[in-house]
Amino acid sequence: MADRVQACTPCHGEQGKGTNDPYFPRLAGKPAGYLHNQLEAFKSGRRKYPPMNYLLAFLTDDYLRQFAAYFADQRPALPEKPPTDASAAVLDHGHALVTQGDLDRSIPACVSCHGGSLTGQEPGIPGLLGLRASYISAQLGGWRYGTRTATAPDCMQLVAGRLTEDDVRAVAAYLANQAQPADPAPSAAGSYSLPFACGSQPEKGRTP
Ligand code: HEC
Ligand code: HEC
Repeated sequence: MADRVQACTPCHGEQGKGTNDPYFPRLAGKPAGYLHNQLEAFKSGRRKYPPMNYLLAFLTDDYLRQFAAYFADQRPALPEKPPTDASAAVLDHGHALVTQGDLDRSIPACVSCHGGSLTGQEPGIPGLLGLRASYISAQLGGWRYGTRTATAPDCMQLVAGRLTEDDVRAVAAYLANQAQPADPAPSAAGSYSLPFACGSQPEKGRTP
């Protein structure tokens, strides 16, 4: 694997710990199921980013699973949080959406799926800490404009579709400004139930 991942580390960093490029995401420690879903999504074109789409087009599913397992197992230190230029009002708005959502606009709290400590849940829900604001807002934009989609029901598309540009800027700034959790590991599968169904996180006894 150490040889094979050299195809990935120029953009994703040693052990997938990320690089200084704010748009290249960290991969280390994300749930293997989540990483595999993303590789499959790039391979099939369900998630669009041409360099990733081309790179994966001819790889077998077995390879994709090995890459996902490798990066899920890496535990390099989380990066220092970058300084923010967001105002206190913007950070407060982000804090409110992330921790409480906005009932009037049917926006669920991000913590209701990503977990109280925002470290995600096995196998399909990623943590949201250790990512840069520009990456987070680009992903939410991808869902809003249809260049990123997940298995139906695509719950993130529903969530992102209810956010305004200002909401996106605020949650991205707030998330990127959080201190790193003492234990970044995602919580166990089924450790809490989701407010509504997500195709990438099937739950026992729930029909979408
Ligand atoms: C040319 C730079 C580049 C290379 C090389 C590259 N990636 Fe990526 N990768 C990216 C970028 C940029 C994104 C985010 C794209 C987006 O906006 O959807 C990404 C996204 C991902 C994601 C989704 C991350 C997430 O949190 O959703 C995974 C998984 C991934 N890459 C795995 C790999 C693997 C495995 C390799 C090597 C086989 C690789 N990448 C090689 C640039 C690259
Ligand atoms: C109903 C559950 C649910 C809620 C609520 C939710 N998410 Fe998600 N989120 C998911 C799932 C599932 C994924 C993985 C989707 C996939 O497989 O691509 C995800 C992925 C993401 C990603 C991609 C991370 C990466 O590494 O690329 C971001 C960013 C994100 N969510 C932000 C948010 C924000 C911000 C909120 C609150 C406004 C939120 N989510 C609320 C379920 C949820």
